[in-house]
Amino acid sequence: MIGMTLTKFLLEEQRRYPGSTGNFTSLFADLVMAAKIISREVNRAGLIDILGATGGKNTHGEEVQKLDEFANKTIINTLENGGHLAGMASEESENIIKIDGKYPKGNYLLLFDPLDGSSNIDVNISVGTIFSILRCEGGCDATDKEFLRPGVDQVAAGYILYGSSTMFVYTTGHGVHGFTLDPGVGEFLLSHENIKIPEKGKIYSINEGNSRYWLPGTSSYIEKVKRDEKGFTGRYVGSLVSDFHRNLLKGGIFLYPADAKSKKGKLRLLYEANPLSFVVEQAGGRASTGDKRILDIVPEELHQRTPLIIGSRDDVLEAEGFWRNQKV
Ligand code: AHG
Ligand code: MN
Ligand code: MN
Repeated sequence: MIGMTLTKFLLEEQRRYPGSTGNFTSLFADLVMAAKIISREVNRAGLIDILGATGGKNTHGEEVQKLDEFANKTIINTLENGGHLAGMASEESENIIKIDGKYPKGNYLLLFDPLDGSSNIDVNISVGTIFSILRCEGGCDATDKEFLRPGVDQVAAGYILYGSSTMFVYTTGHGVHGFTLDPGVGEFLLSHENIKIPEKGKIYSINEGNSRYWLPGTSSYIEKVKRDEKGFTGRYVGSLVSDFHRNLLKGGIFLYPADAKSKKGKLRLLYEANPLSFVVEQAGGRASTGDKRILDIVPEELHQRTPLIIGSRDDVLEAEGFWRNQKV
């Protein structure tokens, strides 16, 4: 199967699991198209005058990079007219994106972080797109309520990593598969079939610059990790999707816990934590807030933040012991 195109692989998957529909396969085709366009633009970022901030701020008061906006628009434009979606939600759009009445409406909702790790663009470090797909229930009116569903309801999720090569990694609940873009033929080819995260890892990823804000549980866990005889090594790129991908393949733990500065954590539940948690669980790993499984959280708002501890099963299990019953 190695070398098979993503499109063919999806059709095979559709045959193997009769529950899958053609609609879904073709929604993915639109997503792949958007990914290729963003990948091309990210690769050209140093060549064209697209670097730097636009001067605007996004919903969260953060500086918006030009490529953030480009990626956001590309995904919206490529998917709004495909007939598969009832609506979209994006990190870069404050409100739900409804499908214009002039286009056919479908049964799925797409939630995404168009460009994760965007502060790294200017310094040529890997960034990515993270996505989550829900099948809408009821009338598919794309109301807030329809988007506010726990991660266990996701029908597909994944990410596209714009790194030294571009990779498309996804799950539909039947394992995790990774495809690498062959720029010569413009196709994503199967390179990592049925990815499994090692049960224990040696990598820990956390922003240690926040240590003065840490809760006692975080400090004791990191102290413990540093003294662990298995010999942990610290790795933190600052693009969640890149840190996650490395730990998925090599084994390890990524932590962005709640602290005195970010009382609810920093990362967003619906389009950062949920999709990566679905992927990690499908790969045999674990994702938690410290005392709760991420995928069980019932969201209250679209841009809700959550603490995130994610990675190798045994490492996350051990870490949870340090956060349990701890209040901010
Ligand atoms: P985004 O670029 O989509 O706003 O996400 C940035 C996130 C995430 O990618 C990364 O893990 C985290 O911010 C880094 O935060 P710190 O700089 O606070 O460590
Ligand atoms: Mn992000
Ligand atoms: Mn982003």
